[in-house]
Amino acid sequence: MTEGDRKPEYRPGLEGVPAAKSSISYVGIQTNDLGEREGVLEYRSIPIQALAEHSNFVETAFLLIWGRLPTHAELDKFSTEIYSHRRIKYRIKDMMKCFPETGHPMDALQASAAALGLFYSRHTLPNPEYVGQAIIRLLAKIPTMVAAFQLMRKGNDPVMPRDDLDYAANFLYMLTEKEPDPIVAKVMDVCLILHAEHTMNASTFSARVTASTLADPYTVIASSVGTLAGPLHGGANEETLLMLEKIGTVANVRPYVEQCLKLDPKHKFMGFGHRVYKGVKDPRAIILQNLAEQLFQKFGYDPYYDIALELERVLEEYLGGRGIYPNVDYYSGLVYRKMGIPTDLFTPVFAIARVAGWLAHWNEQLQENRIFRPTQIYTGSHQQPYIAIDNRHE
Ligand code: ACO
Repeated sequence: MTEGDRKPEYRPGLEGVPAAKSSISYVGIQTNDLGEREGVLEYRSIPIQALAEHSNFVETAFLLIWGRLPTHAELDKFSTEIYSHRRIKYRIKDMMKCFPETGHPMDALQASAAALGLFYSRHTLPNPEYVGQAIIRLLAKIPTMVAAFQLMRKGNDPVMPRDDLDYAANFLYMLTEKEPDPIVAKVMDVCLILHAEHTMNASTFSARVTASTLADPYTVIASSVGTLAGPLHGGANEETLLMLEKIGTVANVRPYVEQCLKLDPKHKFMGFGHRVYKGVKDPRAIILQNLAEQLFQKFGYDPYYDIALELERVLEEYLGGRGIYPNVDYYSGLVYRKMGIPTDLFTPVFAIARVAGWLAHWNEQLQENRIFRPTQIYTGSHQQPYIAIDNRHE
């Protein structure tokens, strides 16, 4: 018996275990005036619906990171600094040119984000000036790197950012080489607000664990990008669209669902279910569905939307009783598809937005840091003899 034999309660995946104290965002469920249960998401106490309607992504990033809404002067300074740091060094571009064009853009983003750390020296953390500069650089350069990889994999040179365009419009411009329609740019900006932060999810936990070692912020973001990529997390938006493609027609929705459940009664339908929003639709999915409808009205219908609506209806029948409803990833893909964004860029677009939340958690972690060092429950044996290689058997 050693000290390591003490048996704490085991929670696989740390489910329900508070990993930090945080005032950045809140998620929960409330009963509204009509007596209906609904999902709640607040950034620094402000409901997501109000931010989606009145704010913009840069202001929301300031709010998340610095804890309050900026004044005119603060917002101007923050935006100007971000806009003037959007270029990336030619060595980063050269490195990216060597990436295989068949590689996934999330892998390209993870590698490029980590590579930024090579250029900006590691100061002792927390040094407020270094923290502030890293925040600006990461918010500024991540969209440029996503857009650059998109153009490079098509064999084109990346385009320079345009100082006269705001955050979302400039990203779309760098991605498509065309100045976007103002409605499209506005919708993209709202999408970025909706995806900017969501409490202690897997990628944010990843950010905080890496931050707690006092690793540089570029490594913090690179590790979070890697965690976001998985299909159970941010990767679900891409998987959702692939599922709609596979279903193909409205008539095929019910047979598809029945076939999936016949093969595996525990089949996970992408874009459905959430750890917190049990029994309610994700509030972000409600806003995204409205945005999708606005885009369809202006730029033409998408038949995949009918498939998505029918799938939501059929799954309500099959899974609704168990509290499983659409999450943020269900309608975001349809919005991005209408904007002409390729399916494998959906998760990188999510990452561009979530950088704001990851940076807010990085900064908060540094304020009261303690290195993450959970424990484990050892399931092996003890004191086994070392067997010489000649005496080992298959
Ligand atoms: N389709 C079918 N059944 C589901 C789904 C789903 N999408 N999600 C959960 N369930 C079922 C589970 O099979 C389980 O059933 P059981 O109680 O009979 O065993 C029950 O609901 C609870 O599921 P868990 O996986 O334990 O719920 P958890 O809170 O851990 O999962 C998660 C949340 C990972 C998001 C899950 O719902 C899922 O895998 N969804 C699909 C992937 C997805 O859309 N991910 C994006 C999430 S949002 C984000 O990360 C940005």
